[in-house]
Amino acid sequence: MRKIAALLLPVFLAFSLPIAAQDVVPPAAEAIPLSQGGQTLEDILARQSGLKDAREPRETGSAADAAAGIGTALGTRGADSDSVVWETLRFGTSDLTVSAGGPQAGVVIQDGGMWWLEFRRGPLATYGGWLLIGMVGLLVLFYLVRGKIRLSTGFSGRTIVRFASIERFGHWLLAGSFILLALTGLISLFGRMGLIPLVGKETYAMLAVGSKWVHNNISWAFMIGLVMVFVMWVAHNLPNRTDLVWFAKGGGLIGHGHPPAKKFNGGQKIIFWSVILLGASISVSGLSLLFPFQLPLFAKTFAVMNDIGIPGWIGMEAFPTRLSPQEEMQFAQLWHAMVSFVLIAIIIAHIYIGTVGMEGAYDAMGSGEVDLNWAKEHHSLWVEEMQNKTATGERSQTTPAE
Ligand code: HEM
Repeated sequence: MRKIAALLLPVFLAFSLPIAAQDVVPPAAEAIPLSQGGQTLEDILARQSGLKDAREPRETGSAADAAAGIGTALGTRGADSDSVVWETLRFGTSDLTVSAGGPQAGVVIQDGGMWWLEFRRGPLATYGGWLLIGMVGLLVLFYLVRGKIRLSTGFSGRTIVRFASIERFGHWLLAGSFILLALTGLISLFGRMGLIPLVGKETYAMLAVGSKWVHNNISWAFMIGLVMVFVMWVAHNLPNRTDLVWFAKGGGLIGHGHPPAKKFNGGQKIIFWSVILLGASISVSGLSLLFPFQLPLFAKTFAVMNDIGIPGWIGMEAFPTRLSPQEEMQFAQLWHAMVSFVLIAIIIAHIYIGTVGMEGAYDAMGSGEVDLNWAKEHHSLWVEEMQNKTATGERSQTTPAE
């Protein structure tokens, strides 16, 4: 806000100077009261330092006559003042009309832009970056303390089908696209700071264009994968009492017991619902960014949140409900990135457990078959269910390993 005002002041002065040269310098005048459209130095400073609301309406009607001449210190031209013109442009109150380009073309000065820019390269990048580094650090620590979760009964030599090929296809479509989206998204956010010093501007420019292309187009694969995984696995991810026992026993991650679980245990259900809910939110905000100005989400969401009283719960004032088209896009970008950071952190933990963290787990998504002992240790109720089905001749599930 202050920076915008500081930016506007030179513009105001630049426009004023030629006029000043022609003006007859009147004797020093008293400061013009605000009610007449004039401004004092204190007033300007108060607005710049946020002590006064810059959007506070000013009565400018009779100011032209009453205003001090431009030649005097801080003299104003009242309602004819260029600063008033710039202010109406800044706050969208001018009667500017545009013939093409939609409502966004009528926004000549976008007051929220600097805040967004600074938030994006400040707190968003800093806290987001630390979240990912923190998650990697936690997993390293967990690995050092707990080590790899091994098969306590050893490999049996017999396997059981864990995921059909359509399930693995859905999983890898989702996983492959998500990894590409995460990498290209991080390149877009951190590239200027992290990559330009390493690879130079020209190489980075190509990388940035390529990243954007990949990010925009691969998003469809992610959305399809998300829907597939949801449809295939939602029935297995409804919470039940077994999950409570699983959590109460630390999921077998802490200690060496193996609490019973069906096809998915409590921890996996958390992964599943995080992927579905956060993935859906990332997809919707991503679509809003992919089709600029076509899918504004935030003014309406904020209005609903205000009605419920959510800002009060977290000690904040009501959220803004009048947003320019550009502000809508800015909020969509920030939300998209924040939720993505959280999901990336969760997925880093998921990838750890699916690979180095747990012996025998990767096969489930690799070949689709897991060792029977692995299945009995981690998903005992599911194995029972499968074996009962085999016994009743529904489906043959277990095969000797090659
Ligand atoms: C290299 C990357 C990945 C590996 C190695 C991997 C591995 C696995 C494995 C082995 C399973 C089955 C676990 C079991 O048998 O119970 C699984 C399940 C699953 N994966 Fe992945 N995965 C990866 C990336 C991802 C990504 C990026 C997503 C989503 C964005 C994802 C979402 C899921 C979900 C929702 C499940 C079912 C719930 C669960 O088991 O946690 N995976 N993954």
